[in-house]
Amino acid sequence: MGKTRQRIPHSALYTAATWKWGGLPCADIVLPPGAKGIFRLVNAYLFLYRLLNPQKISLKHNLLHRHALIDALLRRSSCRQVIEIAAGFSPRGCMVSADTAYRYFELDLPEVVALKREQLESTPEGRAILARSNFTLLEGDITRLDFSSFAAVPSFVISEGIMMYFKREAQMAIWRNIAKFIRAQGGEYVFDYIPIDDEPPRSRPGQWLSDLRHRLTNPPPPFAYDERTRQDVAADLIEAGFSQVEAIDTRMVARSWSLPHAAVPTRTIIYHCRCR
Ligand SMILES: C[S@@+](CC[C@H](N)C(=O)[O-])C[C@H]1O[C@@H](n2cnc3c(N)ncnc32)[C@H](O)[C@@H]1O
Repeated sequence: MGKTRQRIPHSALYTAATWKWGGLPCADIVLPPGAKGIFRLVNAYLFLYRLLNPQKISLKHNLLHRHALIDALLRRSSCRQVIEIAAGFSPRGCMVSADTAYRYFELDLPEVVALKREQLESTPEGRAILARSNFTLLEGDITRLDFSSFAAVPSFVISEGIMMYFKREAQMAIWRNIAKFIRAQGGEYVFDYIPIDDEPPRSRPGQWLSDLRHRLTNPPPPFAYDERTRQDVAADLIEAGFSQVEAIDTRMVARSWSLPHAAVPTRTIIYHCRCR
C-alpha cells in the first residue's frame, strides 16, 4: 500500500481533513492516515498567503460551504439513487446510506478507492458501512464513465472538487455524458467550479509567494482556468444537454441555507443542473 499512498492526491487528503475539522458526520470513519498532517501544513502556508492576500478566502471554510451546500441540495431532491463521482474521502455516502431508501454509489480512481476501502475496513463502524447493500465503492474515471451499469431511475449525480482540473473541451465531454444519462432517466447534476472572474485577485507579494512555492515544492496541477464567466459556464452546460442550470454562490446563501460557519464569507459557485 506504500506506493499507492504516494499516489493519493494531496487535495483529497486536505479535503478529508476539512470534513473532519468541520465536524461532518462519518468524516472520522473515512479519514485516511496523513490527512491531518497535510491539513496543518497547508493551513500554515495559507496563513502566510492570506497575510499577503487579505482578499483571499479561507480555503477550509470555502470547502465546508461547498460540501454543505451540496448536502442541502441532495436533501431537497426526490432522487434516491446517488452517484458521487470523484468522491475521494467524502463522508457523504457513509452518512446518506444509513437511510436504506437511498442507493449510493461512490466512484474514484483505483488507488483512492483502495485506500478508502482499507480505511473503512479498519473499524467496526466502517465495516458495517461496507456491508450495507445500498452502498457501493467503485473504481471509475470521470472521463469515460459508462452509466449503463446504474439502475435506470432518476439519479442525483455529484462531481465535487474536480471539474476545475479539466479544460473546457474535457469538461464538455464529461457534461454531455452526464446530461445524456439524466435526460434519459431523470434527475439532477451538481458540481462546483469557480470562474476566474469570481476569484478574489492576488496581490503582487501573494503572486511572488505562490511562484516560490511552485519552484520549491511539487504542488498539485494548477486549475485549468479560462476566461469563462458563470453565465458562459451555464451556457456550456445547456449546450452539453441540460435544459435548466442554476449557479448558486455560497456567499449569497450561507446564512439563509444555515451552512456551518455561515458568518465567514466564502465564494464557491455550485452549478445545479436538470433536464426537463
Ligand atoms: C480534490 S479531491 C475531491 C474529493 C471529494 N470529491 C471531496 O470533495 O472530498 C479530487 C478527487 O478527484 C479524483 N479524481 C481525479 N481524477 C479523476 C478521474 N479522472 N476520475 C475520477 N476521479 C478522479 C481524485 O482521486 C480525488 O479523490
